[in-house]
Amino acid sequence: MTNGGHGDSAREAYDRWRPPYPPTLWALLDDQWGPSRELAIDLGAGTGAATRVLARRFDRVLAVEPDVALLDWPDPPDNVERLPLRAGDVGFADHTVDAVTIASALHWMDVDHVLPDVARWLRPTGLLAAWRLEMPAFDGPLGALVDDELAMGWDQLRHPRLRAHGWTSRAVQACPVLRTELATELVERVAFEPEEVVGFLCSVSFVQAYAARSGDPDYLARLEARVLEAAGGLTVTGSLRFDLVVARPLG
Ligand SMILES: C[S@@+](CC[C@H](N)C(=O)[O-])C[C@H]1O[C@@H](n2cnc3c(N)ncnc32)[C@H](O)[C@@H]1O
Repeated sequence: MTNGGHGDSAREAYDRWRPPYPPTLWALLDDQWGPSRELAIDLGAGTGAATRVLARRFDRVLAVEPDVALLDWPDPPDNVERLPLRAGDVGFADHTVDAVTIASALHWMDVDHVLPDVARWLRPTGLLAAWRLEMPAFDGPLGALVDDELAMGWDQLRHPRLRAHGWTSRAVQACPVLRTELATELVERVAFEPEEVVGFLCSVSFVQAYAARSGDPDYLARLEARVLEAAGGLTVTGSLRFDLVVARPLG
């Protein structure tokens, strides 16, 4: 297995096949951070896709991630400390944090507990930025294949919060101790190599869950073959959609 994602561990699948968050997203956030750049916290840091970018913008970054296998990065930046904990189990002093990011992870958290914590940790000028990469919309036959797989099986194993488009921004907007400054959908048109599509799909939680429960040990290999056939050996186009919300503490 050299070109697809179904032989990868969860960490490898994430590192290799998840597209990086786009420069347009970071440019938008760069216009929003407050004046102090001492401390940022990345909740649900995973393999550090957002943490590494924060580390170039803030003096010190804490990466909070309960899955120690994902947190085992080969080359952590010097100003990053990794905390193997769930978001609901960490505590920081009130009004000491300049930025909190939650990248494609808020849907796994106890929002009624975590968002008020974040509001307390943030300085008055501090910023919460939460976003989620929604399921990409692939063009042409590949889009139809993905829609069919969702309807035929994946969707039953998709968490209701993942099914709900725009859930992340709605959850933050509903928090009574945060003031939402911006809630938007960023859309990036992208070209994918067919094997990148396979790898991406194999990194999705409900695709992995479906493969595990399907009783078919070759499900992912067959999915790969069907994706490659649908792509016809050509680059595939599609849209990455990011549900993004930016908020500051009320008070
Ligand atoms: C889809 S991944 C996103 C990882 C990373 N932020 C990124 O953008 O690539 C979701 C992450 O949330 C983590 N997670 C799940 N429950 C969590 C919790 N209660 N507190 C903190 N992180 C959690 C998972 O372990 C996983 O690494």
